[in-house]
Amino acid sequence: MEQLQHVAIIMDGNGRWAKAHGKVRTQGHLVGVDNVRNIAIKANDMNIKVLTVYAFSTENWKRPLEEVDYLMKLPALFFNKFMKELMEKNIKITMIGEMEGIPQETAKVLQRAIDETANNTGMILNFAMNYGSRREITLAAKKYALDVLNDKAGLDIDEKEFGKYFMTADFPEVDLLIRTSGELRLSNFLLWQIAYTEFMFVDEPWPEFTPERFEYYCNEFLKRDRRFGGIKQ
Ligand code: FPP
Repeated sequence: MEQLQHVAIIMDGNGRWAKAHGKVRTQGHLVGVDNVRNIAIKANDMNIKVLTVYAFSTENWKRPLEEVDYLMKLPALFFNKFMKELMEKNIKITMIGEMEGIPQETAKVLQRAIDETANNTGMILNFAMNYGSRREITLAAKKYALDVLNDKAGLDIDEKEFGKYFMTADFPEVDLLIRTSGELRLSNFLLWQIAYTEFMFVDEPWPEFTPERFEYYCNEFLKRDRRFGGIKQ
């Protein structure tokens, strides 16, 4: 049976979930943090190789300052609470997006988690932080242009080679993209990477997205007939 290598999640709906439960938005994010742990542990148990979670986009800076400040505290909350368990489970933390622009304290916390787990050989829990796909594509083009200028690359580049300029260069192709909370958009997430990805737009808001539902959607994915533009023989 086909094995899931890489699942990406747009964790949407913390705010709406909070409102629906008479709580403030930040309480939704707080439950959302715990759920990153729950889904990561489940994905690790299912032998998924990479789980990429969209934690903060280049567009999220437009939110009110208090909310941005709060969102920037979430990595510290997450790692203070769960680092021990992540180490026990041999989970490796990585990040896509730009450290530059992230408040120094948050950047330090993220870098420490990346360094501490660098030798772990289990699942990769990859945080998209200060990440935007158009920005990533622009940076890839810039790096490639510089390589051409410096005679390190030729003009006859193919897609596979160009893919190496992306922040996801070390990861397998994204098999499945899940977006919670009912919105049908991609919000500038992994646009280059999802050419042949299967999508699941699900109604549950992120705080209510349980490991059981995660497993259910992964199993649904495995039932799909992926032809990558060809035909099944
Ligand atoms: C979108 O929901 C969610 C975010 C912008 C933040 C997602 C962050 C987490 C789930 C926690 C991240 C965890 C770590 C460890 C960094 P929203 O708040 O926009 O929800 P709404 O659309 O209902 O308002």
